Amino acid sequence: MRYAPGFVILDNMIRRTLWALNRHGYRLVAKPLFFMMSPDDAHSLMIKSVARAGYWAPMRWFTKAVFVAKPNAMLVQKYHGVDYVAPVGLSAGLDKNAEIVPLIARLGFGFATVGSVTAFQCDGNPRPWFYRLPHSQSIVVNAGLANHGSDVIIKRIHDYSDQQIGSFPIVLSVAKTNSCNVVSIEEGIADYVTTVHRAQAEPRVQVIELNISCPNTYGGEPFTTPDKLERLLAAVDAVKPKQPVYIKMPVDLAWPDFSALLDVAVKHKIAGVTVSNLTKHRSVISPDDKLPDNVRGHLSGKPTWESSNNLIRQTYLHYGDKLTIIGVGGIFNAADAYTKIRLGASLVEVISGLMFVGPQLPAQINDGLVKLLKRDGFTHISQAIGVDAKK
Ligand SMILES: Cc1cc2nc3c(=O)[nH]c(=O)nc-3n(C[C@H](O)[C@H](O)[C@H](O)COP(=O)(O)O)c2cc1C
Repeated sequence: MRYAPGFVILDNMIRRTLWALNRHGYRLVAKPLFFMMSPDDAHSLMIKSVARAGYWAPMRWFTKAVFVAKPNAMLVQKYHGVDYVAPVGLSAGLDKNAEIVPLIARLGFGFATVGSVTAFQCDGNPRPWFYRLPHSQSIVVNAGLANHGSDVIIKRIHDYSDQQIGSFPIVLSVAKTNSCNVVSIEEGIADYVTTVHRAQAEPRVQVIELNISCPNTYGGEPFTTPDKLERLLAAVDAVKPKQPVYIKMPVDLAWPDFSALLDVAVKHKIAGVTVSNLTKHRSVISPDDKLPDNVRGHLSGKPTWESSNNLIRQTYLHYGDKLTIIGVGGIFNAADAYTKIRLGASLVEVISGLMFVGPQLPAQINDGLVKLLKRDGFTHISQAIGVDAKK
């Protein structure tokens, strides 16, 4: 539908004003309040309040109106049968138990990753789980895969009404239970397979993401070697999941080791890879941030930026015809998202950016991406994917 120019100008002005209010409201009011609390308390409070609000239809309508998440045809894509109205999704780890999808779906995201979930309920590592590094735009994460268990979480997803989430794509991030009872390779594979079985019967789970890169858990990251990944993927293939399966890749591997995993992935029914997870490298943090040695965990946000970009680029160059790439790591604005798209990512994800910049971030990224695409003479996002990979 075409609108009169006056209406478009007014619409843009209203949108821009609301974003400015959202941005400044988050920066000046919500963020300082949240940042006065410990990150663990802030996360729990946010999940509880957003989960409650999401059950209330006027609140869902209000969220959509205030955050002005307006779809744009230039950003609409389809991969492996899944429709994405926007390229930016929520990354795993914020909504561990799929409790806040109804409001997340109204912020302008094209999809949301929930979890990581495991076959058995797990309390995670001893608290604290999170530590903020504001100058480095990063969070130190040591949650240890705390979640309610995939049976409970998939039922929660199933029980959402169409009014609450409609056809919004949910990506289920699947890991193995963090427990001293799930340490051997056989136990680990059985754990993943149990959840994949449960997930494949649930149509609301539109994508499965195998998280093989969660640090700080019992047994470490056993599936980040080719032979063990081969065994895991053979077992997942045998389940014949209906959904496309992605792998959440580690960020700290050198390219030869990373590509050895991709060589395994392409031999199986793997639709794509999410690049990448947290980094263990602490040398990259700002000198203005204090990070005591006794704070355990791995780093999110800007410290992952360079490595994730390098891996996206290489993956696109060598496997771009076989694997769809979801780019994640250090995205805080539209230009960051665009960088990853131009390096080869078809979709992108954020989590730290949402915490530091605020809930208006996905809508802002979509708006900014449209402008950047037009600036560069593209009429659709697909034309920009990978254009910088060879440079
Ligand atoms: C609080 C928090 C919890 C996370 N938990 C998970 C998780 O359970 N599973 C997973 O695959 N990644 C997890 N991650 C990693 C993110 O999904 C993402 O890969 C990483 O943080 C880089 O993105 P960012 O720069 O936008 O934070 C977590 C990250 C954060 C900040």
